[in-house]
Amino acid sequence: MQSLLSGILRAATMACIAGFANVALAADSGVPYVPTPQVVVDRMLQMARITPQDYVIDLGSGDGRIVVTAARQFGARGFGVDLNPVRIKDSVENAARAGVSDRVSFYQRNLFDTDFSEATVITMYLLPRVNLDLRPKILDLKPGTRIVSHDFSMDEWRADETANLEVADKYGGNGGPGTSTIYFWVVPARVIGPWQWQATVAGKPQTYEMVLEQNFQVIGGVVKIGGRTVKLQDAKLRGEQISGNFTADVNGILLKHDFTGRVTGGSIEGSIKLTGTRTQGQYEWNAMRAAKTGQSGGDVRFAGASR
Ligand SMILES: C[S@@+](CC[C@H](N)C(=O)[O-])C[C@H]1O[C@@H](n2cnc3c(N)ncnc32)[C@H](O)[C@@H]1O
Repeated sequence: MQSLLSGILRAATMACIAGFANVALAADSGVPYVPTPQVVVDRMLQMARITPQDYVIDLGSGDGRIVVTAARQFGARGFGVDLNPVRIKDSVENAARAGVSDRVSFYQRNLFDTDFSEATVITMYLLPRVNLDLRPKILDLKPGTRIVSHDFSMDEWRADETANLEVADKYGGNGGPGTSTIYFWVVPARVIGPWQWQATVAGKPQTYEMVLEQNFQVIGGVVKIGGRTVKLQDAKLRGEQISGNFTADVNGILLKHDFTGRVTGGSIEGSIKLTGTRTQGQYEWNAMRAAKTGQSGGDVRFAGASR
């Protein structure tokens, strides 16, 4: 509730500032032009850990400062889209002044009609409602794509990291000091449902079934082995990387299984470390998505995603 209220307040503040400054409103999304202070831009790009391999797309790019900074300071490539032709003209000039015109482009385009699947990093300074409208498309991006939003969250898709910055000139001479919040997410792989793998443990072949529940990047679940079901502990998902542990009785030996792997579509590849009182070992982990039976897939809460 508190974040909802602060979202509404921030939205109202942005709209007020925009009106005060007589700034053009983008008709169909209602998001005014309010540039992100440079100190916040720098922090957003640091949080996204931008490298020269990145392709940064700013949705509603204003004067282009985020994409231009990503290119100038980090050697990234990318593009920005904005509805307002004046912003596009300014962005093209800013890119030329920064000497990065060969690495960035700006298009006068509605962000909702923009294909941003090429992005490794998406940046946004929009409004809560617009973030939520974009969320299904963002969750459909390649797992591991990083998202940074200035001031506005994605509701129940909790950020992986947040930062608050005191900003001396929050609204570019129109409002004095203020606080900026930066939200950072990594698009999670879709892992919900049952997975299976085989391994030879304590001299005998074993079949494991892991049934995962998923709420965005938050995962949990159980593992079934030898007719018993045990709970996953410390299960984590960051982009395509999955890890966690479970302790199960395998052929009469109590073994802790620490798993770590990479999810690609219908398979997970990684390793599982085994630790028992008198036993230690490791095996390659090759799990495959199993066909769903009955309710074993759990309640799908990958909200908004069409995959
Ligand atoms: C708050 S400003 C942010 C500018 C820039 N991203 C920054 O952080 O400095 C939002 C920008 O989004 C643009 N915008 C609003 N709705 C849009 C839409 N549907 N498609 C493209 N751009 C849009 C506005 O024209 C404005 O320049």
